[in-house]
Amino acid sequence: MRIAMVGAGYVGLVSGACFAEFGVEVRVVDTDAARIAALREGRVPIYEPGLDRLVADNLRDGRLSFTTDLAAAVAGADAVFLAVGTPSRRGDGHADLSYVFAAAEQVARAAEGPLVLVTKSTVPVGTGRRVQELVRRLRPELDIAVASNPEFLREGSAIADFMRPDRVVIGTDSERAREVLRRLYRPLYLIETPIVATSIETAELIKYAANAFLAMKITFINEMADLCEKAGADVHDVARGIGLDGRIGRKFLHPGPGYGGSCFPKDTLALARTAQDLGAPSRLIETTIAVNEARKARMAERVIAACGGSVAGRLVAVLGLTFKPETDDMRDAPSLAVVPRLVEAGARLRAFDPAGMENARALLPAAVEYAAGALEAAEGADALVLLTEWNEFRALSPARLRAAMRGDVVLDLRNVWDPAAMREAGFRYHSIGRP
Ligand code: UDX
Repeated sequence: MRIAMVGAGYVGLVSGACFAEFGVEVRVVDTDAARIAALREGRVPIYEPGLDRLVADNLRDGRLSFTTDLAAAVAGADAVFLAVGTPSRRGDGHADLSYVFAAAEQVARAAEGPLVLVTKSTVPVGTGRRVQELVRRLRPELDIAVASNPEFLREGSAIADFMRPDRVVIGTDSERAREVLRRLYRPLYLIETPIVATSIETAELIKYAANAFLAMKITFINEMADLCEKAGADVHDVARGIGLDGRIGRKFLHPGPGYGGSCFPKDTLALARTAQDLGAPSRLIETTIAVNEARKARMAERVIAACGGSVAGRLVAVLGLTFKPETDDMRDAPSLAVVPRLVEAGARLRAFDPAGMENARALLPAAVEYAAGALEAAEGADALVLLTEWNEFRALSPARLRAAMRGDVVLDLRNVWDPAAMREAGFRYHSIGRP
């Protein structure tokens, strides 16, 4: 089988490389010529564990190729996937669908015969139907079947998530499109992956509902963490105690500084807007968004309070800047709310992140200093804030950290360290939701 993947971003690259690994001939198209040139040489522009290897292997074996020529990629393809961005539109929070419609139009114009056009980008309910109308209008003589096949992969574990998903969602009215997608995902049948076959609208909504539910779950445990602090309870035991109930589930109950990333903030906002537009507003989702935003902003105040009410003239070390570990992605990272606020409050900031510093430089205030390692960031610091739970931070010795620092304040906003060990090392240690 042969497919074209339009968009060489996170989803396009990972799914393109994974389909190639399944034995499909994949052509990945992007308008960014520099990106395509780099990919042709096997240079992957994002940090995602295992992706370089997968791209290089499939490039070498000739199953994966990269081009800026959309018409050439579409020619002879059994299916064309749209994996272009759907960022939040400035002003109203709706998903910006201009890239989706532009790509759909180009594909329709380039199509030479019957085609299956699959939307993998996260798009609001109703978009697939509009794509269908668009391609029918442009090419009424061709049989272009439209489908929605949302992607649930997480950054940092994207390849494993694609290769071993909990389910595959296929939304379409077309028997042919369903068949083509089933054939593409055949290797997953061997591991008995459930296939959820639905209408286009339902598939589109499943994606948003999943992200909104997970965002709510995180926000719920974050509120429980606040309550635990006041009540002298331990949020991890609460999470385990409720999570062992199969109806609740243990995952996504880790408290922290608030969720970030390329999906949850954008998708919850877009879903809230869609729900309002369709006359079925969701107060739960609207509240989740507001509570999470307020939480991220409040984290800086926690740091200031732990430092005795002022950080003016103090050196604050920050460990971790990306929205989660194993990525260089800074989109909506809690650090974007915390670091500028501390700078504004007069602190000197010195940060270290294993993968995100290059991206962070463009987004954080120019006054922020960057260190080559965690201990170097901590050197002479009055306070230390851990914002992202990179594994290498877990392994830091509390005693060495304490020896490097001038002050004794540590705020562990991901609960990676053991409170007893940190206190033993002489720290005034603050974490989330633990006594
Ligand atoms: C998410 C969804 O998980 C994925 O299915 C979808 O396709 C894209 O969005 P991603 O954003 O890559 O994936 O990362 P995820 O691991 O879900 O984390 C999102 C945010 O939630 C991060 O900021 C993370 O730190 C936070 N989080 C997650 C918590 O604070 N607590 C948790 O228990 C889990």
